[in-house]
Amino acid sequence: MSMNIAVFASGSGSNFQAIVDAVKQGELDAKVALLVCDKPGAYVEERAKAAGVPVFCFNPKSYNGKADFEQAIRKELKARDVELIALAGYMRLIGEVLLHAYPRRIINIHPSLLPAFPGLDAIGQAFDAGVKLTGVTIHFVDEGMDTGPIIDQEAVRIHHTDTRETVQKKVQAIEHTLYPATLQQLIAKGVEVL
Ligand code: GRF
Repeated sequence: MSMNIAVFASGSGSNFQAIVDAVKQGELDAKVALLVCDKPGAYVEERAKAAGVPVFCFNPKSYNGKADFEQAIRKELKARDVELIALAGYMRLIGEVLLHAYPRRIINIHPSLLPAFPGLDAIGQAFDAGVKLTGVTIHFVDEGMDTGPIIDQEAVRIHHTDTRETVQKKVQAIEHTLYPATLQQLIAKGVEVL
């Protein structure tokens, strides 16, 4: 069963690219129907254009608050029959409008083993804490910051020779395979907790 998905991203979009590539290679039974971006000019927009994915890019400051711009997003999602939302570096909490419109249909990827190191710069937080194990978490989104039921996780070992940069590379390599694979499992199972 194929599904229309939207990816929300604010930055470079390497996870967006991994999802688009997985669809192209037949590994993810989905159509990337929309990129939603809250940072006009972000590199992820270029990636979407190159992949032929429609873009809804907005400046939050042009709206009267979160409910207002989420209504605009909701309209775009509805127009494209989007059934599932994948957050991929969307640096903003999801509000009530979208949570109610897409109950248990919004997924996030976070670069740590949650509940450890939620929020910004999770890789830096792990590095500074001196932990020897960090990783990647994929979870359903609720109103909290990187909370919500965990769907899957994969660990990354931090060696004494590692730097922030090498940890980041290892974490990203895992993200780029784990996210498309988890989305595929969710779609195949009709979006239930694994
Ligand atoms: C990823 O590390 C993801 O886990 C986090 O934001 C980052 C986005 O990176 N939520 P990119 O834009 O996909 O390269």
